[in-house]
Amino acid sequence: MKIKEFLLNPVKFFIKGRKILTDPQYLDVQKKSHKEVLKTPSRTVIINFLLSLSKGDTSYLEIGVRNPQDNYSHIKADKKYSVDPGLEFDENPVDFKMTSDAFFLKLSENKILSKNIKFDVIFIDGLHLAPQVDRDIKNALMYIKDDGFIVLHDCNPPSEWHSRESYMYLHTPAKGYWNGTTWKAFLKWRSFPSINSCCIDTDWGVGLLSKNHRIGNPNKLTNPFFEFNLLEENRKDYLNLIDFESFKKHFQE
Ligand SMILES: C[S@@+](CC[C@H](N)C(=O)[O-])C[C@H]1O[C@@H](n2cnc3c(N)ncnc32)[C@H](O)[C@@H]1O
Repeated sequence: MKIKEFLLNPVKFFIKGRKILTDPQYLDVQKKSHKEVLKTPSRTVIINFLLSLSKGDTSYLEIGVRNPQDNYSHIKADKKYSVDPGLEFDENPVDFKMTSDAFFLKLSENKILSKNIKFDVIFIDGLHLAPQVDRDIKNALMYIKDDGFIVLHDCNPPSEWHSRESYMYLHTPAKGYWNGTTWKAFLKWRSFPSINSCCIDTDWGVGLLSKNHRIGNPNKLTNPFFEFNLLEENRKDYLNLIDFESFKKHFQE
């Protein structure tokens, strides 16, 4: 490196760094992360509410657990099962140490649990990329009770950066926050005629799908290329966003 370059580099980095860190769009995305983090209730409260609607013994399946202390351990169900290949938490104290694809394949072959098992709630929170979430939803629909719920985390990314495909790239205004492209799979299944759905506006968007509960009408898919800017403009309608207190009114007699 030449001496002139060596002396000018820190100045170049300072000017460029300041430009990025004070950029209004960069700051806006950070504000959005902060706002989302403060929302309540958590996914755990919502899942426990859904389980409390069931009359008999309850059965719960969680796809993607990481540290059970963050959610799984706090779920109140008579029977609980967990699936995770252990990519993010070394201990990985789950029932089925495998991917969701492997789990559903073994389940269908009657090699684990029973192929006739039905769950009250299946929480899909594994690999947050649309093709995987799409498969998880398709599989989960075969093992959910008619009056049960499929729950999806991270359906309401506050910005395009939160919705990036690559989790590993952290030099974006969203920093370590990542919702992936789960929203695209949720949106796809929201347009399925026999599925009711909505998204609770908390904890990065808690998406719900149900066969029998009238929690929200199917939507016409008017964003066939899943462009983020269209989601941004039509968020409430596309996701059927609802706050938890209003959602609970569906179940009051
Ligand atoms: C966001 S964390 C789960 C958080 C947890 N459900 C909670 O509420 O706190 C995602 C987890 O999904 C797991 N995972 C990644 N790919 C997966 C796959 N194909 N099938 C199932 N789980 C997967 C990762 O190992 C990671 O532990």
